[in-house]
Amino acid sequence: MKKLCVVFGGQSPEHEISLKSVTSVLSNLDKDKYDITVIGITKTGAWYLYTGDHANIIDGSWEKDSENLKKAVISPDAEDKCIIVFESESTVSKLYPDVIFPVLHGEYGEDGTVQGLFELSGIKYVGMGVLSSANGMDKTYSKLVFESAGIPQADWVVVRSGDDIEEKMNEIEEKLGYPCFVKPACTGSSVGVGKAHNREELKKAIENASRFDRKILVEENIDGHEVETAVLGNFDAEAATVGEIMPTVEFYDFDAKYNDNTTKLQIPADLPEETIELIRSYAVRGFRALEGQGLSRVDFFVRYSDGSVVLNEINTLPGFTDISMYPKLWEAVGLSYSELLDKLIELAEERVK
Ligand SMILES: Nc1ncnc2c1ncn2[C@@H]1O[C@H](COP(=O)(O)OP(=O)(O)O)[C@@H](O)[C@H]1O
Ligand SMILES: [Mg+2]
Repeated sequence: MKKLCVVFGGQSPEHEISLKSVTSVLSNLDKDKYDITVIGITKTGAWYLYTGDHANIIDGSWEKDSENLKKAVISPDAEDKCIIVFESESTVSKLYPDVIFPVLHGEYGEDGTVQGLFELSGIKYVGMGVLSSANGMDKTYSKLVFESAGIPQADWVVVRSGDDIEEKMNEIEEKLGYPCFVKPACTGSSVGVGKAHNREELKKAIENASRFDRKILVEENIDGHEVETAVLGNFDAEAATVGEIMPTVEFYDFDAKYNDNTTKLQIPADLPEETIELIRSYAVRGFRALEGQGLSRVDFFVRYSDGSVVLNEINTLPGFTDISMYPKLWEAVGLSYSELLDKLIELAEERVK
């Protein structure tokens, strides 16, 4: 049996999403194939080996299950390739997983930091490496990568702390107009994202986004279908079909993503075949430009006006619940959730630097 270490939780505002994702991952992993250990990271960044019931993860109660918690850390010693478990104040034991599966989203999970620790540990891991994770997480860097790959995107302006805000707002009005989208450079799940219809709202949106990041991305509004595709593979990565998100609110905000059940997913999206193919090819091109390995969900808009395709963003560790788009898109082309997990673990073992 393959020894698999699944890591969940983490310090980002997407901690709770990770709890949902990992619950689905754990219930879909083939127990005959994998000897699974589970490590939970609290919101304050404490690492624990968790040996209790997986059903206690989703509501956060695993953190109080002290009988089933032991402090554990991934060792950066590449000769050892192990996880150190603190059995007591003075004794430790070691675990030797074949593969680590990080089911983490956002800061310290999806941004290359924890991937750096995995690299040092010498243990194979699922998903993108350090540089591609970092570039994928920072929306301003991924913009530059996708631009250099010739993929169409929304026009944008970057606002950094220390910039003259009035001057920046003039630039935004001239270059992008209203409405425009304001996003912290490095959050996910729509955290801190706002839509501004005038200068007053723009100022407020920038202030709000500044609570999450020192760098803000402002984009022209794209009026179109919101669609996503799922990329899987290493150097021979492929894209699944394309799905459309139909939020019932003004945009796909945090609540629409996770708290209300009115958002509909349409798989495959009801779009012309050429558009679907174009989206799939941009997704693979973007993934390759970012030097991606493993997986990514790549999100696009298709303009209502002329049907043109615009890349919105890449998510290197996308949501992984049973109803999440990433596994659904693979299911739609014949790869079940469990098979998808097998494939990701295989890709982790095959990956090269
Ligand atoms: N330029 C844009 N035009 C129209 N809608 C946008 C634009 N950028 C973002 N949105 C809306 O805001 C949501 C969140 O923005 P996104 O860039 O995907 O950030 P996150 O990483 O938080 O998911 C998108 O799903 C979409 O509904
Ligand atoms: Mg998004």
